[in-house]
Amino acid sequence: MAKILVTGGTGFIGSHTVVELYNAGYEVIIVDDFSNSNPKILNQLETITGIKPEFVELDLCDEAKVKAFVADNTDITGVIHFAAFKAVGESVQQPLKYYRNNFYSLLNVLYAFNSKIDFVFSSSCTVYGQPDQLPVTESAPVKKAESPYGNTKQIAEEMLTEACAVSPELFVTSLRYFNPVGAHESALIGELPIGVPQNLVPFITQSAIGKRGPITVYGNDYNTPDGSAIRDYIHVVDLAKAHVAAIKRLESKAASTNYEVFNLGTGKGSSVLEIINAFEESTGEKLNYQIGPRREGDIEQVYGDVNKAANELGWKAELGIQEMMRSAWNWEKYLKDNPF
Ligand code: WQD
Repeated sequence: MAKILVTGGTGFIGSHTVVELYNAGYEVIIVDDFSNSNPKILNQLETITGIKPEFVELDLCDEAKVKAFVADNTDITGVIHFAAFKAVGESVQQPLKYYRNNFYSLLNVLYAFNSKIDFVFSSSCTVYGQPDQLPVTESAPVKKAESPYGNTKQIAEEMLTEACAVSPELFVTSLRYFNPVGAHESALIGELPIGVPQNLVPFITQSAIGKRGPITVYGNDYNTPDGSAIRDYIHVVDLAKAHVAAIKRLESKAASTNYEVFNLGTGKGSSVLEIINAFEESTGEKLNYQIGPRREGDIEQVYGDVNKAANELGWKAELGIQEMMRSAWNWEKYLKDNPF
């Protein structure tokens, strides 16, 4: 039985991926330090799947503890590495915190497995910056990151590429996420932003439920149809299923190389105002919003060319914007009655 280590497995994308791994018949072991998640997620996962997740609380920055963990768990056949800090704004304020955490954790895991493992890496479309051409393909040039967070993803991809070049038993797939939103249909797991949400959709749902004031649309003077910025929003459950497809491809050794990159998006762009409208339409909730200045570091528009994942992973996103908004709203309503 294949057993997958999910680092950061109580986080937003990690927890949804654990559900899909169980659904696909995998054994799972989660490690997390709860620095950006809540232990209650473990109970939620058991309620959703009927399986009590195997879990070890572990600081992946502690090299000795990571080595001991891997030595004690020789039945792990693959790794999905989510564990990382991911707040763009915070990374600008505290760059060394981001470089330490995101690199120590990645390197400790690779060292502990002696570079002999199937490894799925959680990367990001931020590596593209503002692409010169849209939709952006995996072969588009990586641009100087706008933030230390984005830089950790770019440098991590370079480290993995170079490691794979000299480690024939290290098989890596980097998944470049576009904008993950939404929640599991059970409304038992979802995004748990700490403090004021920096991302659009959790701010929308918290505004709609009365936790926040009006939404500020960061700029309506972009060169886009309605002036607001465009992103490729993807349902977190579709994203989770892509990780199972990536693990299966690594197990099959079907790839001609031991390092691959895939865009994980829908291939469609939606503007901020379109998202606001879609939320209102799909939930019946009226949103209050105001137009504000552009946010420092934002790009104008990005959406992915997703043909490579379709052709080689055999995966494509299936859930649309309406379901993204509806599931995000159901999760926010669940949280109101069941605060974490
Ligand atoms: C989306 C759009 C904002 C909040 C981030 C990370 C990226 C990736 C996905 C991890 C932008 C606008 C937002 C608000 C707004 N994460 N907005 N009002 O910045 O595209 O990407 O999440 O991999 O690394 O950078 O996502 O949700 O913050 O913003 O108008 O209150 O919504 O300007 O155009 P972003 P976001």
